[in-house]
Amino acid sequence: MTDPLTRWREHAEDAVLLDGFHALKHALRFGAEVPVAVTTDRQAALALAEELAGDVRDTLDALLAQVPGETYASLVPRPHPTGVAALAVRPSREANLRRLAHTPRTAPVVVLDHPRNLGNAGAVIRLAAGFGATGVVTTGTLDPWHPTVVRGGAGLHFATAVERLGVEELPPGPVFALDPEGDDIRGVKLPDDAVLAFGSERSGLSAQLRARADHLLRLPMRPQVSSYNLATSVAMTLYHWSATGGAPAVS
Ligand SMILES: C[S@@+](CC[C@H](N)C(=O)[O-])C[C@H]1O[C@@H](n2cnc3c(N)ncnc32)[C@H](O)[C@@H]1O
Repeated sequence: MTDPLTRWREHAEDAVLLDGFHALKHALRFGAEVPVAVTTDRQAALALAEELAGDVRDTLDALLAQVPGETYASLVPRPHPTGVAALAVRPSREANLRRLAHTPRTAPVVVLDHPRNLGNAGAVIRLAAGFGATGVVTTGTLDPWHPTVVRGGAGLHFATAVERLGVEELPPGPVFALDPEGDDIRGVKLPDDAVLAFGSERSGLSAQLRARADHLLRLPMRPQVSSYNLATSVAMTLYHWSATGGAPAVS
């Protein structure tokens, strides 16, 4: 078998960086192909696995190669406190598009329309994974597979389908766009095949997305508060979907 550094260099160009123990744990749980994983302390990483991730402990044991601290620091932009990093193969766009378009859909797709903040996008992917949403689609220039988004998503990109698409390419299903001027969400049951769309942090929903929306919904908010944060809006909306009968796969 080739040494971990050679394998890292072979895959670094196209692969997704999994930064830290938890990102690697989640990616493995949800079926990511991980060609290389390194750690500064194998014993500590495996002890963490015993404690928190018995289901992937043996996989980690076979995968993790110990490297010196300087080598690890040269591979990752911001060393993680757990001293673990890995590269995963990005799922193909075709596979993700198939998942997003599959009908009948049993859980909504979340659309972030021209998001700006990489941390918000990561937080939304983590929410989508937790609620068992079908996927997260972004429009605009932000790359939803950017390393900072993957870090924010704690490796949970592999638990859902994440792609960037044009508004004209959105998956089928009724579009419920979230906007403070819409109808009160509390009076609406969101269907499992809903496409739930959220506007950008700076300017809200684009004209193109508004034109595609079938319903405009608002989250309850006291007067004089202009809006909620993007990721918290997604959290409330997915929670509303689950609390009104959705989320068959979530306990
Ligand atoms: C930070 S807000 C956008 C604020 C932006 N300045 C605007 O003019 O809309 C980001 C997105 O979160 C959602 N959002 C925030 N507060 C909401 C509310 N009270 N009701 C429905 N959606 C909300 C909307 O989709 C909004 O476009």
